[in-house]
Amino acid sequence: MKNAARANRLSCESFGLAVVLAVLALVLNQLDAYPDGAPVSSCKYWSPWHEPYTEPVSSIPPYSIKTYMDVVRPNALVPVCLFGQEPFKGFMLQAITTDGDVVGTFELRDQDKGRVQLMNCSTMGTMDTVCHTEKNHKKVQSFRWRAPTDYEGQIVFRAVIVRNYSIFWRNLESLPFQIKLDVDN
Ligand SMILES: *[C@@H]1O[C@H](CO)[C@@H](O)[C@H](O)[C@H]1NC(C)=O
Ligand SMILES: *[C@@H]1O[C@H](CO)[C@@H](O)[C@H](O)[C@H]1NC(C)=O
Repeated sequence: MKNAARANRLSCESFGLAVVLAVLALVLNQLDAYPDGAPVSSCKYWSPWHEPYTEPVSSIPPYSIKTYMDVVRPNALVPVCLFGQEPFKGFMLQAITTDGDVVGTFELRDQDKGRVQLMNCSTMGTMDTVCHTEKNHKKVQSFRWRAPTDYEGQIVFRAVIVRNYSIFWRNLESLPFQIKLDVDN
């Protein structure tokens, strides 16, 4: 049971472990840049690597990322939700600018403790990426994301979704929304 559970591990920490040897130099390099030991290979490759290595599925994912506002102010708290027509086991979620910079900060609620964890994918150390720690099957997962104070412009959430041990998508994106200082309301 314990071994089976371990073999099924799809946690953040295991992202990238399968290729650690192959990219040891690279990883060491990055650990250097991230002394807190964030699992940076999954950030860099945006991929939940595990053995046996599988390519992401390129079909339209049976998942969606919902945001509820078209325009928010800098520093606004933005609800965001992952929905599945099929259950999923794992995910990574982050917000990117039009330049592809990972921005903002996920804020955990009490109910999130032990279920999800935060990562620093950008060098800003702002807890800009959230991923699962629980490997149960789920169809809905909600989050709160704090918009950056120093960016105005378009934001898109993107996610890697792990269906199970052999199937994952990394082409899931939300509809774009804007961060704007002057919001009429
Ligand atoms: C992310 O960066 C912040 C600021 O440097 C640090 O306090 C935090 O421990 C880091 N978190 C992780 C998971 O690496
Ligand atoms: C993974 O999910 C797909 C699609 O639902 C299914 O066909 C496949 O049998 C599953 N594989 C495993 C190892 O559970």
